[in-house]
Amino acid sequence: MPTDGSEVERYDKLLGAQLEEVHWYVDRAGPSSTTVLIQGESGTGKELVAEALHWRSQRKGELVRLNCGAIPEGLVDSELFGHERGSFTGADAGRAGHFEAANNGTLFLDEVGNMPPRLQARLLRVLQSGAITRIGSSKPKPLNVRVLAATNADLWAMCERGEFRKDLYYRLNVVSIVLKPLRERRDDILLLADAFLLKYLPSARFALCAIEAMQAYEWPGNVRELDHAVQRAALFCDGIAVRAKDLGIAIRTPDAPSVPTLSRMDEVERDMLVRALEAAGGVQRVAAATLGITERVMSYKVHKFGIVNTLRRPGGKGGKTQVDSVREQPGVEGVDGPSLSQGGTEMEGGEQVVE
Ligand SMILES: Nc1ncnc2c1ncn2[C@@H]1O[C@H](COP(=O)(O)OP(=O)(O)OP(=O)(O)O)[C@@H](O)[C@H]1O
Ligand SMILES: [Mg+2]
Repeated sequence: MPTDGSEVERYDKLLGAQLEEVHWYVDRAGPSSTTVLIQGESGTGKELVAEALHWRSQRKGELVRLNCGAIPEGLVDSELFGHERGSFTGADAGRAGHFEAANNGTLFLDEVGNMPPRLQARLLRVLQSGAITRIGSSKPKPLNVRVLAATNADLWAMCERGEFRKDLYYRLNVVSIVLKPLRERRDDILLLADAFLLKYLPSARFALCAIEAMQAYEWPGNVRELDHAVQRAALFCDGIAVRAKDLGIAIRTPDAPSVPTLSRMDEVERDMLVRALEAAGGVQRVAAATLGITERVMSYKVHKFGIVNTLRRPGGKGGKTQVDSVREQPGVEGVDGPSLSQGGTEMEGGEQVVE
């Protein structure tokens, strides 16, 4: 992997066109030993970002995870710092804690907001000194551990309420990565959904009603919920097309039938697609590569925007290629989507599945 600032390989599990900023932080902060605080709602991919940072760091040691909210308070000290033999009843043998296990690697403190105050003070001392002292020992042990922390709580609000130490907050928050909820990066919904479908049932495609339902849904459980919805749909669909009902999510139906209109964002996206297709001579695979999306997602989008992807060669051979940008709304009754002749298949009940 180059370290000279040239193009770097990405952590391929962390998908999303709208995660550019996150990838940028991972590329910059990953190789350092800086502490990073990863914040975001549940299911937004905090653990994946921690994995990406560890992967990018190329540290020889392991990525050790500790869920600070899942260990009984009395045991957290020992879990984190380890203990010496006989240091408490039942400690028949000495044991290394998570910090030692992460030596030369990364310690990921998940749900750090749930760390008891007493332990917060101890953690701060360890981060400042770079050494741990096992319970029952008086000898500090220097370690080389990179610490990453994650929380879905508003840690600063917890500081203001006196529930989390401000000095620890500052120590953890050297670099801050905030993951937006999925509903605030809707362009990633289809991209992620398609990647999950490819994993669970590669032979299937989304019907347009499913795409619309996914785009309209709020996804309170974020990417995790989307992953589960697609997993479920892969089980319950007919094996060819995933329809809205297969996803098991609340489908928003408009009060009155209306002709959908393109938002400004949609206009911009559609324009980009048309341009990329024109530049690629109408070849979706090439246009998709230019835009950094998969061919399948390109195909969905072409159908979503009703782009008529026909090559025209005005004046015969050698003429300029052109992609028609007819403003047709797929899925609207009465409008025959021209896209069906370009790879789409009409299904029962007028649903279209994008191929
Ligand atoms: N950008 C992404 N690309 C692909 N998969 C993702 C992405 N973000 C999240 N996921 C998937 O969503 C699920 C939840 O991700 P993760 O465990 O990292 O979330 P989290 O923010 O740590 O959630 P929690 O706060 O509940 O622990 C995982 O299956 C993960 O693979
Ligand atoms: Mg997590």
